[in-house]
Amino acid sequence: MVSAEFDPFAKTGGLADVLASLPKALARRGLDVRVAIPRYGSVDLTGVSRRPGIARFDLPFNGRQEPVRLDAVEIDGFEVVLIDNEHYVSTRPGIYGYPDDGHRFTFFARAALETARVLDWRPDVIHCHDWHTGLIPNWLRTTDRHAPEFADTASLFTIHNLEYQGHFDSSVLETSGLAPDGLIPHPTRPDLSDVFVFMARGILFADKINTVSPRYAREILTPDFGHDLDPLLRDREPDLHGILNGIDIEAYNPAADPYLASHYAVETLERRAPNKAALQQAVDLPVQPDVPLLGMVTRLAEHKGMDLLLASLPHILDRGAQLVVLGIGEPRYEEALRELALAHPNQVAAAIRFDNPLASQIYAGSDIFLMPSRHEPCGLGQLIAMRYGSVPVVRATGGLADTVEDVNPATDTGVGFVFRRYDAIDFFGAVARALELYRIPDAWTRIIQRGMSRDSSWDTSAAAYERLYAEALTTRRTQPLPDLATAS
Ligand code: GLC
Repeated sequence: MVSAEFDPFAKTGGLADVLASLPKALARRGLDVRVAIPRYGSVDLTGVSRRPGIARFDLPFNGRQEPVRLDAVEIDGFEVVLIDNEHYVSTRPGIYGYPDDGHRFTFFARAALETARVLDWRPDVIHCHDWHTGLIPNWLRTTDRHAPEFADTASLFTIHNLEYQGHFDSSVLETSGLAPDGLIPHPTRPDLSDVFVFMARGILFADKINTVSPRYAREILTPDFGHDLDPLLRDREPDLHGILNGIDIEAYNPAADPYLASHYAVETLERRAPNKAALQQAVDLPVQPDVPLLGMVTRLAEHKGMDLLLASLPHILDRGAQLVVLGIGEPRYEEALRELALAHPNQVAAAIRFDNPLASQIYAGSDIFLMPSRHEPCGLGQLIAMRYGSVPVVRATGGLADTVEDVNPATDTGVGFVFRRYDAIDFFGAVARALELYRIPDAWTRIIQRGMSRDSSWDTSAAAYERLYAEALTTRRTQPLPDLATAS
């Protein structure tokens, strides 16, 4: 697997969680998995036992010989190879956001491919995650298609979020060595005809493609969710799959989570209550056991539904609820939340930061967990919330639709509150339904119990990935190369 993020070394979101937990599940099934990640300047290996400098090589790149050094770390039955280079990787503390990110991730992807070669390790499948790795399927099908080391290597490209595509100027054509084939015509945007799109390359060239939920796999075939690449995805529909993410149920376990004031399980729900008090205290809200406490752990981005939250918040506060939001993101949302917390100190708490312990405390201490996303490829927050007994309120999109069944009091079924239209009124309606049922302790407890009993482990999905790897190998052997000229 090749990825720009890996929990705990480099993380901005769910991608990092998946990379830490899927290989573990695959290794348990007997697969030999290695994960290549960049060793950014901020990667902290203190206390991590590793094999330093397992190999070194020079990679010709952008007119220079770039020295590459590899360190290996053994984690949960699989190996992580950290790729280090001074110019593009270790002198940059951040993961993303440098003007030469196009070259940086081209370099990283190329170095990852060379790493397999240098270590003389021949993977059956290179599993590429998100745009940063989109060039690997491209190389395997073009420049490297006759390389004996990769003669039997298939590629799988996983889209964790289609919105982030990696758009760069055409100088990437030269550094990637793909200049002879030229740019690929953009399927919908003539104005992007001179832009190099990493994500499009992954989609076009991978033997198999998948996204992180079945529903999102269907959604991205439409213009509303396709972020301008839907025609390309429709062309590849027979090879496009949806496999739901799991969570690491050992790491996310309310019976053992080191950050919780009180450990509990579905059989010992009464021990959950101290976590609510601890959370209220930690974020400076009045400690009130009977006031419904709403939680959110999120990137503060438009597509996470921040506008819906802000528009409906006055009504939610009118109902007497408390809200705690943890996350970082767009400055306008950070400011709005800070102001709301100042204006309503007894009801709103805003933690504008990245904070794993507080995240756990929110999952374990809140009553209701909000995810009003405009789109959500899978979403891990609702899965963690359910496992920790916080009842999710979600919009019926992507993985949220696939994992949260709407509560129906008449039949005593469902694990959360679902609304359909992306609209503040509809969102508020779902929150209001949740607040109503919250007052009926028996019914509420049964909702929590159903959510906590749900299987969100990787078991089923890891088996699905294993099948898809096998299919990718078959495709690799039988499918002709894509025709660049008709790619659009
Ligand atoms: C991205 C998506 C999220 C998904 C995660 C892991 O962060 O936005 O929905 O759960 O990747 O696949």
